Amino acid sequence: MKTITNVQEGLDMITKDLHTYRLHFHLMPPTGWMNDPNGLSYFNGEYHVFYQHYPFDPKWGPMHWGHAVSRDLLHFTDLPVALFPDKSYDEGGCFSGSAVVSDGELYLFYTGHVDGRSPKEVQCLATSTDGIVFTKHAANPVIPGPPLEGSADFRDPKVWKSGDTWYMLVGSEKNGLGRVLLYTSKDGVTWSFSHVLLSAQAGEGEMWECPDLFVVDGRHVLILSRVRDGGHEVVYYIGDWPHARAPFEVHHVGYLDYGSHFYAPQTFVGASHERILLGWMDRWNAPMPSQQAGWAGALTVPRVLRLTDDGTRLGMIPMPGIEAAFEPVFAWDRESGRDFENGFASDGVELGEAYALDVYLDAKEIGRMGKSQISLVTHASSGEDQQVLVTLDFDQLVASTDTRAASMGVEGAVYPSPVPASWRTKSIRVRVFVDTSSVEVFAGDGSLTWTHRMYPSSGKRSVRLQDEAGWITRVVVSRWIEENKN
Ligand code: FRU
Repeated sequence: MKTITNVQEGLDMITKDLHTYRLHFHLMPPTGWMNDPNGLSYFNGEYHVFYQHYPFDPKWGPMHWGHAVSRDLLHFTDLPVALFPDKSYDEGGCFSGSAVVSDGELYLFYTGHVDGRSPKEVQCLATSTDGIVFTKHAANPVIPGPPLEGSADFRDPKVWKSGDTWYMLVGSEKNGLGRVLLYTSKDGVTWSFSHVLLSAQAGEGEMWECPDLFVVDGRHVLILSRVRDGGHEVVYYIGDWPHARAPFEVHHVGYLDYGSHFYAPQTFVGASHERILLGWMDRWNAPMPSQQAGWAGALTVPRVLRLTDDGTRLGMIPMPGIEAAFEPVFAWDRESGRDFENGFASDGVELGEAYALDVYLDAKEIGRMGKSQISLVTHASSGEDQQVLVTLDFDQLVASTDTRAASMGVEGAVYPSPVPASWRTKSIRVRVFVDTSSVEVFAGDGSLTWTHRMYPSSGKRSVRLQDEAGWITRVVVSRWIEENKN
């Protein structure tokens, strides 16, 4: 055992061993608990991000709305809690909701939740002119209970304005099947129930949470966080919504993310009119070792939504411009002549705990079938590698992430997903973002993504790649620029 000879050395050892898992380029609560992103908006030249928050314990409790602002959705400044559960209609919690900017004011719509009351969930409004201090509306609850077509589970209002009409989606269920309800209003305060936008078929979930509806590349897309057989999953429905009183017509359904820690995402329109998505980068009932350090929960990196070329799938790509926050520390390309057959390791490069990896696969080479394996080694010590493994197999048309060796004391699994056959004839770029306790993988057009939390021991990290088939043409490893503050 090492003898500690002075106080500083002792302190260094303690702080090194007490792993806090704090992230570098993701929003997390300053202290306490975080779940869903809420009220995502661009107001007075800044992004506002609110979130489900319990400030007093790193566990879910009566929900507050935490609040931060950002210019790039990578660097954040914490602001005071925006909403407290302090009214008779929301004293059990200010549950999830959304924001609208209208006539210079920021409108927050949320669910007031009170256990044991009937109705237990109602929709509420709070407004602000400075984007910091919010006033709950005198007419609250603006929707005092569910319609007959819904039930007591009636939450997560997603509101937008089109022309002079305000629209609100609310997640609900009826007879054990999830539903999305649509309301309309002329002023954001007085609402009338319009109709059921979509109902679950058998097997599509017993409760639908956090609905979101918008247009991407000319098609309507509905995103739902589904409670199904007691588990949680995020799906998208691509289809048509021909007019305001019509139900949603579903054409294609798919999973938005294939990883283990992705739930309750919300979208909004960003500064460049792109459709941006942030998700909760955790999941109900997941082990959260950071609770020992007084916090839990984080949001994903910002992602921009696109339809795939054939219009049948929804893709998420990292928000354009994100790369400016990283500096390349290693680049390899085939032209430079080095043989890749034996793989590549970044062992000699100091990566820190936060970095990005970019791998390009060449379409011309994809005719040579085989397996391309990207092995992401997040930490190496005493010969025992903690790692997340990303595998792309164009022969079997399967891709997966493997987190079985990712964390200390937290079980992982293999997360497979089908690879579209069309990818055999395309150039594919795989982008990986590693932060202290998270990994996000984006492949190709973004229709394959994986979001994971991981809990490795602290220490040096490296990236390793194996490329049996010889497709990889270029690799860039970039380090997060720590001092790149707003
Ligand atoms: C989704 C959710 C929402 C609810 C919130 C409560 O994760 O269950 O339906 O509003 O979390 O914190």
